[in-house]
Amino acid sequence: MALTHTYNMSILFLLLLLTLTCFGQDLIQIDSPTNGQTVTSKTRLDVSYTVIGAQTLSPAPVNATYPSSMTASFQWSQKGNNNDNPFSFSALGGLNTRHYAAGIQNKGYTASFNVPNCHFFSRYNPSNYDFHLVFTPLYSEESGSSELQEPISVALNVQVNNASFPKC
Ligand SMILES: *[C@@H]1O[C@H](CO)[C@@H](O)[C@H](O)[C@H]1NC(C)=O
Ligand SMILES: *[C@@H]1O[C@H](CO)[C@@H](O)[C@H](O)[C@H]1NC(C)=O
Repeated sequence: MALTHTYNMSILFLLLLLTLTCFGQDLIQIDSPTNGQTVTSKTRLDVSYTVIGAQTLSPAPVNATYPSSMTASFQWSQKGNNNDNPFSFSALGGLNTRHYAAGIQNKGYTASFNVPNCHFFSRYNPSNYDFHLVFTPLYSEESGSSELQEPISVALNVQVNNASFPKC
């Protein structure tokens, strides 16, 4: 009896381990900006990302779930505030995440984001605030919840061009 119990427990543990290792096959990769990249106020920031072809992965996932689109928000929070409840505004919406046919290749996309001007950064000074672009893959309702990719947060190091203040 005790032996059966132990046996069942090991099966359960194995299943749990399998579930955990299969969790969240990331199919979106943000190529630019890179984490910690320096960006300048009031410039156009190039964004690029890759929708990874599931068949290029080894092993290829049995059941790859691609997002139907993606959004990005610009988020900021006071330094040392653990990033809880950041301020944010919508930076980019409806980003295309269509994958290459049958997922046999990666597919790259570009977009651009207008970095706020020096008025914004005078109110939220980079010496007191941390900034991120957070990309959120969106999934159609019928996608199972276990395979979905979490939002991708990219830290930005903001340099303020304040030479002409108050004209930004
Ligand atoms: C820009 O310059 C103004 C005037 O000196 C100052 O009040 C403001 O804090 C500066 N902004 C930044 C982001 O340094
Ligand atoms: C494949 O994905 C669908 C939809 O998310 C799900 O219902 C199904 O159980 C998955 N199958 C496997 C083998 O993971």
